[in-house]
Amino acid sequence: MEIIIRHTPAEVAQVAASLLEPFIRTGATLGLATGSTPNPTYQELIRRHREEGLSFAKCRAFLLDEYYGLPASHEQSYHATIRRELTHHIDIADENVHSLDGAAVDPAQEVEDYEEAIEDAGGVDIQILGIGTNGHIAFNEPTSSLRSRTRLITLHPRTVADNARFFDSSDEVPRHALTQGIGTIMEARHLILIATGPAKADAARALIEGPLSASCPASALQLHNNATVLLDEAAAANLEGLAYYKAKEPYWPVGETYSC
Ligand code: F6R
Repeated sequence: MEIIIRHTPAEVAQVAASLLEPFIRTGATLGLATGSTPNPTYQELIRRHREEGLSFAKCRAFLLDEYYGLPASHEQSYHATIRRELTHHIDIADENVHSLDGAAVDPAQEVEDYEEAIEDAGGVDIQILGIGTNGHIAFNEPTSSLRSRTRLITLHPRTVADNARFFDSSDEVPRHALTQGIGTIMEARHLILIATGPAKADAARALIEGPLSASCPASALQLHNNATVLLDEAAAANLEGLAYYKAKEPYWPVGETYSC
């Protein structure tokens, strides 16, 4: 696991965009997360698209998850969110931005079809991940099998509380979601997990230094061969090995575009 620590979320976003850029240039299949954390990275990618000609025209994308019970047209659906935050501002074809249907009448069929669509696309080349304060990745809540596949899941009360900020009240937060499984996510060829802010410090520590455990779904990244964890100082604050991670990191020149 590669651990990269920067002072601020803006600096983290620079590194994330630079890690993603070579993949985008080759028309990779991107795995996209929603939530607040990736937004500075998305803004930097939009800037590179507008100012530096970074083209997404040959890319396709798969979202990690979707609230179950929200139609795509709802402004807080992840279908709508990713368009608002990223894909409507770049040159990726809208039909190449795939997501789970939160209004699917038959969720079992929906998740099967989604797995098949990812497979038909040749798999995800590089997957962006955030992390929940309870250690979830996508909406794989604690106790999710580390080999789980895409499925319908009940959101943890902590996730409902954390995500209430996107809705008028916590009563409006859906209690269920369709989510790629941990086993599904682990098949992506590269993973980039971004964690910023003090609220993520405990989860970041459990992910990096805790035991491999379904109690912290993100700890599954310890088993991935190409996983990079990008943290700001606040999210890295509880790491016991902080000095080591900082010492071993900078073989990638700061501010340059690097390929993994
Ligand atoms: C969303 C997703 C979630 C979020 C996580 C953190 O697609 O996969 O796992 O990444 O809940 O959310 P934020 O970034 O809003 O703190």
